[in-house]
Amino acid sequence: MSEFREPVRYPEVVLVTGAAGGMGAAHARALAHRGSHVCLADTADAGPVAEEIAAAGGTASVHALDVTDSAQWRRLVAQVRAERGRLDGLVNNAGISRRLGFLETSEEVWDQVLRVNLDGAFHGMQAAAPLMREGGGGSVVNISSISGQIGYFSPSYSASKWGLTGLSKSAAGELAAWNIRVNSVHPGLVATGLLDGADAFVDAAVRSIPAGRTARPEEVTDIVLHLLSDRSSYVTGAEITVDGGLVSNGLYHRILADAEEVAR
Ligand SMILES: NC(=O)c1ccc[n+]([C@@H]2O[C@H](COP(=O)([O-])OP(=O)(O)OC[C@H]3O[C@@H](n4cnc5c(N)ncnc54)[C@H](O)[C@@H]3O)[C@@H](O)[C@H]2O)c1
Repeated sequence: MSEFREPVRYPEVVLVTGAAGGMGAAHARALAHRGSHVCLADTADAGPVAEEIAAAGGTASVHALDVTDSAQWRRLVAQVRAERGRLDGLVNNAGISRRLGFLETSEEVWDQVLRVNLDGAFHGMQAAAPLMREGGGGSVVNISSISGQIGYFSPSYSASKWGLTGLSKSAAGELAAWNIRVNSVHPGLVATGLLDGADAFVDAAVRSIPAGRTARPEEVTDIVLHLLSDRSSYVTGAEITVDGGLVSNGLYHRILADAEEVAR
């Protein structure tokens, strides 16, 4: 068991998409704090996150990337190869949400959500895997959602996240030969900009969360760090749910609370 007393090892170079804000920025800060060089990729300006990382003694580079564009992905990975010589970790975190029902979802919205949330991760893994292979392997973490595990009222978001769950498992099987692990993380409700304007929805949802609150971004970061580290070397093709018990126990949690209210 002595190997478990060794310090945890994190990727030397890791690329995080959607790193300009929300959970992506939290993942990036935590990785830099542990010594990784973090490539911050986003359509938005990740400069302020890079400055924060540098001020804290870490290293990060800023990259303009629209994850839906495979050519941009190829150029970015070529740049990482030229500047860093390796890539050991990839966090496909960029995502968008359109909380629209079935009949309200236009073709344009459907295409846009699928392209960012699902195609983005596909292009990312396809571009990054060869460089990871050259360095001896790596770890990919795809940020799905509990809406990629259960029925969810927004068809575009749910389909994109279910797709990402399946894509992760498919990639895990094939990329194992290159010593690349691929896992998906499934957050429940996390307090970030993605939930802006959804206060009534969030308040109602919390009533079904056994933990009684939304998650802090750092609580998802801890799982991402574990999956990127050498402490999860035998974990691939797995789904890790980070939801305060919503999926496993939300139904009866709500039923018991409602029954108590009725009995009063
Ligand atoms: N917040 C939640 O409750 C929650 C729950 C489950 C899953 N998630 C997932 O977690 C991930 C991060 O969510 P968040 O809450 O931090 O969101 P956020 O909106 O705070 O941040 C998303 C980031 O992705 C970037 N982005 C959007 N489109 C992009 C594109 N085409 N190319 C590159 N970057 C792009 C945005 O600029 C932004 O910086 C998403 O995949 C989201 O679906 C969030």
